[in-house]
Amino acid sequence: MSNQPKSVTIENLEAAFAGESMAHIKYRYFAKLARAAGAIEVAEAFEATADQEVQHAFGHLDLLYPKDKMTPARSLEIAIEGETYEYTEMYPKFRHLAIEEGNSAAVAEYDEQIEESKVHAAQFKRTLEIAAKRFAALANVEERHANHYKAALDKLNAAAEPATTI
Ligand SMILES: [Fe+2]
Ligand SMILES: [Fe+2]
Repeated sequence: MSNQPKSVTIENLEAAFAGESMAHIKYRYFAKLARAAGAIEVAEAFEATADQEVQHAFGHLDLLYPKDKMTPARSLEIAIEGETYEYTEMYPKFRHLAIEEGNSAAVAEYDEQIEESKVHAAQFKRTLEIAAKRFAALANVEERHANHYKAALDKLNAAAEPATTI
C-alpha cells in the first residue's frame, strides 16, 4: 500500500463500502436466525434487504475499483494482498490480544480464520499463476500470428516493388 494520504472521499467510499457489506452479512445472519426461529416473513424481509445492500456496496466498488482500471489479474492481486494481510497481521494481532484477555473461544476462531485465509491466498495465487501462463501462451500465439502476417506482407510488398530498384 502507498504512503500517500488518501482523499477524504476515497476514505469515505471505503467506509461506506464496509458499512454496506456489513449490513449485507448481518442481515443474512439475522435471516438465518429468523428462519431457525420459524419467523419466515422476517427472514425473507432480511434476505430481500440484504440483496439490496450488495447493490449498494457494488455502487461504492464501482468508484473504488473502476472497471476500466481493473483486470482479472489485478483483482487477484488485490485479493491475495487482503487474504495475506488477514493471516500475517490482522488475525495474529487479534489472537494475541484475545489471549491476553483470556478469550479462548476467540483465539480458536481466529486460528481457524488464519488457516482459511492462508488457503484462500494460496488458491488465488495458484489461479493467478495459471491465468498468467494462459495469457503468456496467448501472447505467444498472437506473436506467431503477427510474425506470420508480417512475413506475408513483406512478401507482397517485395513483389509490388517497382522494377527500377536494381
Ligand atoms: Fe444500504
Ligand atoms: Fe478469506
